[in-house]
Amino acid sequence: MKILLATTNQGKKREFLKLLKDLNIKILSLKDLCIEEGFKEKGRSFEENAFEKAYKGFLLTGLPTIGEDSGLIVPYLYTLPGIYSKRFSEKATDEENRKLLLKLLRGVSFEKRRAKFVCVIYFVLNKNNFFKFKGEVEGFISYEERGKSGFGYDPIFLYPPLGRTFGEIDTEIKNLISHRGKAVSEFKKFIKNLL
Ligand code: IMP
Repeated sequence: MKILLATTNQGKKREFLKLLKDLNIKILSLKDLCIEEGFKEKGRSFEENAFEKAYKGFLLTGLPTIGEDSGLIVPYLYTLPGIYSKRFSEKATDEENRKLLLKLLRGVSFEKRRAKFVCVIYFVLNKNNFFKFKGEVEGFISYEERGKSGFGYDPIFLYPPLGRTFGEIDTEIKNLISHRGKAVSEFKKFIKNLL
């Protein structure tokens, strides 16, 4: 079985490939299929965006497709960056996004720095059948960057059970506890049944 992973985000792709490596399926990316077309996010929720990516990927290739949308929710900032996580700052680079978030939380107490990562996966099997999987992980926004692993907001996402940021842990460990790891684990149960 071949499955398209409709993402252009290299950090996400790396994590997906590791998470799915024990399944008997070939994961193709948009780049593998030379699809340059942008997958702009227009939805108002992680669900809408994940579905749109998956459905568009399926329509373009005819392959069963995984679409994923994820982001960081900070209740103190009225759920921002949320669905705008990727393009939070003007320059929209991972580094600038982290800087902006730290700036907005300057002087804010630890308790109010609660945050959670959310990951929604839609799997479009064919024109009429699609399935949703969701994962979340709770933590706090640290006071400064720590660690260089991962991508996006990982260096400022403090995970209390380990006393480290996601930037300070290996991908293997992150995959066991992360929002994406949890959503993919549900997806794997489903796909094993299907196969
Ligand atoms: P999108 O799903 O392509 O809109 O991108 C989601 C954005 O959320 C990424 O660009 C990151 O900034 C952030 N994000 C999602 N998952 C993670 C993660 O596992 N670690 C760090 N940042 C993440």
